[in-house]
Parts: sequence; C-alpha cells; structure tokens
Amino acid sequence: MDDPAPESGNFRRVKHTNQLETYFYPGLFMDDHMNYTWKDVDIGHVQVKVHGRHGSESATYAETGQVVWPASVVLSHYLLQHSHLVQSRSVLELGAGVGLPGLVAAKLTKEPSAVVLTDHTEVILELLQKNTEANFTGDTDGPKAALLNWGADLEEFKKTHGTFDLILGADIIYWTEQEGMAEPLFQTVSTLLSKKADAMFVLCHHNRSAQMSKSIRDIAGKFNLLCAEVTKEDLPAACSDILSNVSLQLLTFTAKDVDTII
Ligand SMILES: C[S@@+](CC[C@H](N)C(=O)[O-])C[C@H]1O[C@@H](n2cnc3c(N)ncnc32)[C@H](O)[C@@H]1O
Repeated sequence: MDDPAPESGNFRRVKHTNQLETYFYPGLFMDDHMNYTWKDVDIGHVQVKVHGRHGSESATYAETGQVVWPASVVLSHYLLQHSHLVQSRSVLELGAGVGLPGLVAAKLTKEPSAVVLTDHTEVILELLQKNTEANFTGDTDGPKAALLNWGADLEEFKKTHGTFDLILGADIIYWTEQEGMAEPLFQTVSTLLSKKADAMFVLCHHNRSAQMSKSIRDIAGKFNLLCAEVTKEDLPAACSDILSNVSLQLLTFTAKDVDTII
C-alpha cells in the first residue's frame, strides 16, 4: 500500500504497541464525533445492550469497530446454538469492536468473569468497557475488557489473563494477501489457545475470494492449527436473511497436535 504523506489530510502516524509504525486513517477505527447511541440487540432470548453507532444497515469502513457487523450477529447466534462451547470455559474475543459475541458468551455462561473482550485501540477499549459494564451492572464478576494488538506483547498478556479454551473473532480478517493481518492474528491464537484437546478458535468472516479462504487455511497451518468449515446446514437458521445477503463463512480452528502448538 502506498504511504500517504505524513500527517497530511485525514492521515496521521500512529505507533502501535508492537512498535510497528504505520500510517493510519483514524476514521477507520474511530468516530471522532463519538456519535454513539444505545441499542438492545436480541440474539434469541439473550438481550445485549450495545453502545455504538447504529442506524445504518450497511456499515462503512469509516465505522469499523463501532458498529455491530453482520459476522458478529452470526457468530453470536452460533454460540447460542452451541452454548456448550462457552460453559465452564475461558473465552477470549479478538478485535471485539463493540463486543457482541463476547457479551453473548458472557451471558450464556455461569462464569462471565472467564470472558475477556479485546481490541487494539484505546477508543474501542473504552467502548468495550462501557458495554461490559452496561450488561453486567453492579456485577464485580462480569467479563473484562483489555487491550490486545495481535502479535504484540503476547507473553505479557498470557501472564495476566492466562490461556483460553475458546477464542472468538468476527470480521477480523479483511484481505489476507494485502494487509498481513492473518499472521499476527494466528500467532496470537496459537499463543493464547489453551492446550485442552477441545480448545477452539471460531472465526466468522466475509469470504471475499477463494484465494482468501485458502490463504487463511495455509497461514493457520503454519501455526499448527487445523481449519474446518461449518457447513451451510449448520449455520444458524435465525441468520438466514443476513446469510443470503452477505457472503459469510464460519471456520473453526483446533490445534493439529496439542503438544506441538507453537
Ligand atoms: C470490522 S471490525 C469488527 C468488529 C467486531 N468484531 C464486529 O464484528 O462487530 C474489525 C475489528 O478488528 C479490530 N482490529 C483490527 N486490527 C487489529 C489488531 N491488529 N489487533 C487487534 N484488533 C484489531 C478493529 O479495531 C475492529 O474493532
């Protein structure tokens, strides 16, 4: 990608926690106007209060991280259908944005404090904190929100939060070839996935090309993770409208060999 001129127009230089310095368009991840409202989002019988940007059916890049993306609705319904996945298990959401799947997981489990919702900017973290507090009012044992930039300070994160039996990701890979997002993402998954035999990463993403699907599998393979696709028949029926409009894919990743996960 061509670098825009430093500090020009809408772009500014941002130093990420992993020391990678990139040009970054803040509007991609945050709305400077903080034009947020509250909305109750129903995932079956589970109601989640979501603070964020609502009102536009089709969110644009200018709102990423601050809206409920279709992939997060599908992943949330999948969790509702397979609630055994969250029971008595530690859960981590990566690139959580407003945090819908993580909050649904926290509402489905008897141990919401075993759920950690993460994202990589302070602005989104604030939003996540607000959403976790609103859904678990006065509850000291609610889910936690934490800063996590994929590939950065993973051992430190592991020391603080431990490893996870279930890792969730909704719409967190856009273009595997161009952006180099997938490697740090799968490095993060392989470092933070627990060694339990049934530990799993569930990713719901926009399948933008056949090549993208293959790249995701190949990169996951480098980190000893085996990919399987949830068949169309097993996708949540409640999401048929979304699924007929958006090309979403649900993938699960498990360690090829729990003893050799890198
Ligand atoms: C399209 S949004 C999806 C948000 C949410 N998961 C949903 O589906 O509604 C992508 C999210 O990934 C986060 N993200 C992108 N790159 C990241 C990175 N390197 N580390 C952590 N989070 C990242 C963004 O901040 C944003 O919240």
